[in-house]
Amino acid sequence: MQLRRFTLSDDSAPLAALHGQCFAAGWDAADFDTYLSRETDDVLGLYIKGKLAGLSVLRTAADQSDILTICVLKKYRKKGAGRALLDRSEAVIRERGADIVFLDVAEDNPAAIALYRNAGYVQHGRRSGYYRRPGARIGALLFQKKL
Ligand SMILES: CC(C)(COP(=O)(O)OP(=O)(O)OC[C@H]1O[C@@H](n2cnc3c(N)ncnc32)[C@H](O)[C@@H]1OP(=O)(O)O)[C@@H](O)C(=O)NCCC(=O)NCCS
Repeated sequence: MQLRRFTLSDDSAPLAALHGQCFAAGWDAADFDTYLSRETDDVLGLYIKGKLAGLSVLRTAADQSDILTICVLKKYRKKGAGRALLDRSEAVIRERGADIVFLDVAEDNPAAIALYRNAGYVQHGRRSGYYRRPGARIGALLFQKKL
């Protein structure tokens, strides 16, 4: 597994393609261009055997960061890639001088909830009806971690 930080000179199309395979409403290339251009944001990619297998997007302001997204392609899941990406994301957050991390997760996403709990995140709140699903709305669990 290899991890790298993307820059504005990188092509955002593969990032959007990966995100679209992981989420029903994936972000497009223009979204990723915006993240890549922001001083506050980091876009990290995880490679397995030279192939882009996962990514995360982070936003840091002062001592706090939000993990805006984290995802791993289905065929690479349950092998530690998500945890490696999360650990590396936290290292980048520390490098920026922040030590509090926030993230939201849909309450119907047991894989992500397990990933965060196992990595030491604690729930500090809940937003009801935050995520849209076909014919339903799902609550968001709000997690935080002090690094
Ligand atoms: C969430 C996601 C990133 C996890 O990636 P992954 O590579 O499978 O994660 P890992 O293999 O590193 O597993 C991390 C932990 O989560 C647990 N886990 C992973 N998938 C799980 C599942 N389906 N059910 C229960 N626990 C699960 C693992 O047991 C592991 O626990 P451990 O640290 O005690 O071993 C991946 O499922 C994904 O991309 N999902 C779609 C996008 C998404 O929902 N992102 C999160 C949005 S908040």
